[in-house]
Amino acid sequence: MNVPEQVEGRLPMLGVLVSGRGSNLEAIFDAIDRGELRARVGVVLSSKADAPALEHATHRGIATVVIAPKQYASRAAEGEAIVEALRAAMVDLVVLAGYARIFDPCVVQAFPLRILNIHPSLLPSFAGGMAPRPQREALEAGVKISGCTVHFVTEDVDAGPIVAQAAVPVLDDDTVATLAERILEAEHQLLPQAIGRVLSGRVRLAGKRASVE
Ligand code: GRF
Repeated sequence: MNVPEQVEGRLPMLGVLVSGRGSNLEAIFDAIDRGELRARVGVVLSSKADAPALEHATHRGIATVVIAPKQYASRAAEGEAIVEALRAAMVDLVVLAGYARIFDPCVVQAFPLRILNIHPSLLPSFAGGMAPRPQREALEAGVKISGCTVHFVTEDVDAGPIVAQAAVPVLDDDTVATLAERILEAEHQLLPQAIGRVLSGRVRLAGKRASVE
């Protein structure tokens, strides 16, 4: 299930999917620049033509593709276009970094246990929905600890095997914005680490439990 650190003598290629701001994409670029993540970003694919994340990619000379739902007659057709774009870029591992679409099953089937997602809660709590919904739900539930989760994407939304989690405190005077900001800082650390862990080829699965051997 794992992606070896070197694929046929080259660095593993990432395909990063975005829909918005792109701070997690930046965190991936920064980790690569610092030499902490041995990988390349082959393509950044966005579901929105005006996503600021696209500018981060073009600024670095990374290829970008926009696959917006309204361009396609069905979710399956959209999924086929996504698979085609990722294959064209020879992507070894797909990373959803603030990607706002639910995949057609054909995408998950094309990259089995090769897609990671970051979610701004400690799954399985507050699954589903885009930021800031999970953060708002955590505040409303009165939890004292929240955080973020990187997990493998399966056909069940936000329910694939968990690769890594980071916890942050929920403070009495938090608003959705302050909690989201604290979680986001943790995301920027966790996502590159989790990608590196999967690329190391040492993650093993036993049922839903992923562990590093
Ligand atoms: C993050 O909170 C991520 O966990 C969620 O969407 C947000 C994306 O932020 N899936 P950014 O676009 O990476 O800044």
